[in-house]
Amino acid sequence: MEPPAAAPPRLVPLYEVHRALQPLYEQIADCPNCTLARTRSRTVPGSGPLEADLMFIGEAPGQREDELGLPFVGRAGQFLDELLAGIGLSRATVYVTNVVKCRPVQNRDPLPEEIEACGAFLERQIQMVNPSVVATLGRFSMARWFPDARISSIHGRAAEVEGRMIVPMYHPAAALRNGSLRAVMHEDFAQLPALIERVRATREAPASSETEPLL
Ligand code: URA
Repeated sequence: MEPPAAAPPRLVPLYEVHRALQPLYEQIADCPNCTLARTRSRTVPGSGPLEADLMFIGEAPGQREDELGLPFVGRAGQFLDELLAGIGLSRATVYVTNVVKCRPVQNRDPLPEEIEACGAFLERQIQMVNPSVVATLGRFSMARWFPDARISSIHGRAAEVEGRMIVPMYHPAAALRNGSLRAVMHEDFAQLPALIERVRATREAPASSETEPLL
């Protein structure tokens, strides 16, 4: 008798979505608020645990992300995984999302109205996950906190905003185009573990006028 056929491999590396995030992900899936809703295959809300201490915010999904509904699963995502491995972290422990949740046609830059249409979703994710550290990947997410800055001037420099650290980073795709940025990104990532520890310790310390400031 023929052995039973092996189950087909799962296309999508499924991360379990925390129950608390499900209504938001469903709202994103139904979003009609900009023209990208007409061209997307799937929305790409984000991935990672609700309790993550570290959040990455990229630009917008590419083709592979649009196919799978998960952020950073193409070549830029592979480099992100390499950067994480370099500091002893895995994707399963960090929260990853984008400024824009739908793929712009032909991977063009997201338009201001598309960023605006997704703004409330991103804000909600930041509030819900409440990470100690946010690393922005590329200029579009950096602009949310530092609209006039140049990434070449401020990458790797953490700034405290509303009780968390925001660290601007180059986009992993930039390092795939320009190999000299690979080492720069590894260096910028190297400070993340200590930064997370510092914010975590501050958050856990009992409130007191003698509490050390973050910076
Ligand atoms: N680039 C991004 O900014 N986000 C992704 O999810 C993939 C590539």
